[in-house]
Amino acid sequence: MKDRRDGAARIRPRTVVMSVVAGATMLAATALTAPAANAAASTLGAAAAQSGRYFGAATSSFMFSNTQHTTILNREFNSIVAENEMKWDATEPQQNVFNFTGADRLVAHARANGMSVRGHALVWHSQQPGWAQNMSGTALRNAMINHVTRVATHFRGQIHSWDVVNEAFADGGSGGRRDSNLQRTGNDWIEVAFRTAKAADPNAKLCYNDYNTDGINAKSTGIYNMVRDFKSRGVPIDCVGFQSHLGTTLASDYQANLQRFADLGVDVQITELDVAQGANQASIYERVTRACLAVARCNGITVWGVRDNDSWRRGENPLLFDANGNKKPAYTSVLNALNSVSGPNPTTPPPNPTTPPPNPTTPPPSGGGACSASVSLNSWSGGFVATVRVTAGNAAIRGWTVRITLPGGTTVTGTWNAQASGSSGTVNFSNVSYNGQLSAGGSTEFGFQGTGTGPSGTPTCTAT
Ligand code: XIL
Repeated sequence: MKDRRDGAARIRPRTVVMSVVAGATMLAATALTAPAANAAASTLGAAAAQSGRYFGAATSSFMFSNTQHTTILNREFNSIVAENEMKWDATEPQQNVFNFTGADRLVAHARANGMSVRGHALVWHSQQPGWAQNMSGTALRNAMINHVTRVATHFRGQIHSWDVVNEAFADGGSGGRRDSNLQRTGNDWIEVAFRTAKAADPNAKLCYNDYNTDGINAKSTGIYNMVRDFKSRGVPIDCVGFQSHLGTTLASDYQANLQRFADLGVDVQITELDVAQGANQASIYERVTRACLAVARCNGITVWGVRDNDSWRRGENPLLFDANGNKKPAYTSVLNALNSVSGPNPTTPPPNPTTPPPNPTTPPPSGGGACSASVSLNSWSGGFVATVRVTAGNAAIRGWTVRITLPGGTTVTGTWNAQASGSSGTVNFSNVSYNGQLSAGGSTEFGFQGTGTGPSGTPTCTAT
C-alpha cells in the first residue's frame, strides 16, 4: 500500500452536533462480561475479550449523534480512538491554548460505555497546527515537550495506550527516519517524546505507530532496530502499533513480523486496520485477526472507522459494515476468527527478555575538562518544561553534574536524559550512562518538567 495520508487535506468538513446519544449505555454491557471460552460471542468486542484482547474502532465525537453509527459502535466495540480529535492541530490550535472539547466527549463516551481508549497521536509530522509547522530547532523541541506534557497530563489515567510518536520512519528501502521539522530538531526527538509522556502518564502503554510495516521490510526493520535500542537503554516504550491500511494482498510474514517485535519485550497492536474492497477482503481481515490472536503480546485490533461511508478511504469500502450499517462478509470472518480461539486468556507475557547489553568496553576519554550549562524554559501558569544544554569546554569530559536552584514551591515531576538528586530546592542533575562523555566543545541536552515556576539564573556545571 502506498502512502494514503496527505494529512489535513483529507479532513472532511463535518457538522459538530453537540447532543449525546441517550440509552447507549446498556448496549456495551456485553463487552464487559467475557463469556466462557468456547462459547461463541456475538459481537467483536465480546469475542476479542475471550482472550483478553480488545476490538476497537476509530470514531469522532460529532458522530455520536448519528444513531446508526453509534448503535454499531456501542454494540460491537470495547475500545475507541479519536480519528482526529486528539491530534496536535485539534488539541493545541494556538501555542499553549488547549482545546479538549471533542476529545473529552470521546473519553466520556468510552467511560459511560465500558470501553477503553487509545490515544492518537501526541507527536506527528502531519496535522500539526500552523504555528508548529512554522517552528524549528529548540523552539519546536520545547513546544513538542510542552504539548506532550499537557495533553498526556490532561488525560492521565484514562488512556489504555498512547501513540506517542506516529509515522517517523521513511518509506522505501532506507530504513531511516522521515525528514520533518521534528526530525531536524535532532535524532533524539522520539525518545524525548517517550520520556516526556512517561513522566506525564506513567500508567499508559506508550506506543510507536506506523504504516507500511505489514511484514519484514526495510521500514519495519528500521523501527525494530529503534525499539531494540530503546529497550536496551531504558527509554520507556511499551508497544508498537501497526496501522495496517491494507490493499488487496497481505504480506506472508505479517504474523512473523508482529512476533519479532513482541520478542523484543514490547506489546504489539493493530491500530488502524482497513482493507480495500475486493475478492480478498474477508480473508485478509481474517488473517490479520488470526495473526494477532497467535501472538501473545498482541493486545487488540482497532479498525479505522465503523461503516464504509465513515472511512477516510471513501470509495474503497474498506471497513466491516456497509453504508447501511449491515455486517459484511469481512465482519463474519473476523468474528469467527475471534471465536475460534479456545482456552483461557493469553499467558501473561514473561518479563522483558531483552537484557540490556553490558556497558561499552571502550575506555572513557581522559576527561579533566570543564563544562557549562544553559537553560531554556517553556512556562505556563502553574508549570514549566526546562531544556538544559550541557557543553564541554576545551577538553573532553567523561561526566557532568549541573546544579540548579529552584524557586520555593517548585517541584520537579519528571526528568529525561539525566539523573536528578531531588525534586525541590537545589537539585543536581547528573549524566546518565549514555550522555556523560562529551568531546571538546561537544554538547548534549537533558530536560525536566515541574509544577510551580521554572528556574531563573545560570546553572553551574561541574565536569567529572
Ligand atoms: C486520517 C483521518 O482518518 C482523516 O480523517 C484525516 O483527514 C487524516 O488522517 N494514519 C494515521 C491517521 O495515523 O491519523 C490517519 O487518519 C490515517 C493514516
